[in-house]
Amino acid sequence: MSGPLLEVTGLHKSFEKHHVLKGIDFSVERGERVAIIGGSGSGKSTFLRCLNFMETLSKGTITLDGQRIGTTGSNGTITYPERQLCDVRERLGMVFQQFNLFPHMTVLQNVMEGLVTVKKLSKERARDIAIRELAKVGLAEKHDAWPSRLSGGQQQRVAIARALSMEPEVLLFDEPTSSLDPELVGEVLRVIRDLADEGRTMLLVTHELGFAYHFATKVIFLADGVFHEVGTPDEVLKNPKQAKTQEFLRRFGEFAF
Ligand SMILES: Nc1ncnc2c1ncn2[C@@H]1O[C@H](COP(=O)(O)OP(=O)(O)OP(=O)(O)O)[C@@H](O)[C@H]1O
Ligand SMILES: [Mg+2]
Repeated sequence: MSGPLLEVTGLHKSFEKHHVLKGIDFSVERGERVAIIGGSGSGKSTFLRCLNFMETLSKGTITLDGQRIGTTGSNGTITYPERQLCDVRERLGMVFQQFNLFPHMTVLQNVMEGLVTVKKLSKERARDIAIRELAKVGLAEKHDAWPSRLSGGQQQRVAIARALSMEPEVLLFDEPTSSLDPELVGEVLRVIRDLADEGRTMLLVTHELGFAYHFATKVIFLADGVFHEVGTPDEVLKNPKQAKTQEFLRRFGEFAF
């Protein structure tokens, strides 16, 4: 199918009186890697959560591979059938800052869970896929471990294997390394870089600006509820045009490209 894989038009999100996202138009082509940067509380997580409908939109539309999400009724209101939202969440795999593994399941069970309960695969087939994905993130030796016995970097790699096992068309990463000790950041970024080399479509919210520079095909600076500046890594991270972007980058100080 031609056209963007993911398209957002006029997206607004408010939490009661707090207007967080104020009109976002955005599209992602297949194979694009988008880094989203911005200050704390600017709405980066909210944006990702709206994309896979973990948050309801206050206004706007999201189209995935040419198909508009939601059904418009005769009075113009949009409803979101749960089945369609489950489908969207399968197609947009999410990796969270806090890993969100099931603590009462082993590593292997964590990766198998969605395959069995959502994709309805047999346990044998789910197990084969889970073993394959865990090997990819370098955790072939940890099948029977409990999440609490793993380092943060290992837990995050399990979470990535779990997301990958569902074969999503887009991967959404919300600050995947920001709760990790500095010495564990590299192992997770390496996995994300390998995924980039495979040509996957990805959106990454991050404060790792040096990584974002090499990773991204497009960088977005989110401020004041809008995409304040959008461009290539060179344009946004090295030669930002907007004063606000310049100020944000200055606060980060020097970062290694
Ligand atoms: N469920 C919610 N209810 C009410 N307010 C919320 C909710 N989720 C987020 N907010 C508010 O929306 C704003 C944007 O939050 P969000 O978590 O998206 O920011 P962020 O850019 O991801 O920040 P950080 O870099 O700290 O993760 C914040 O002011 C936050 O308090
Ligand atoms: Mg956030």
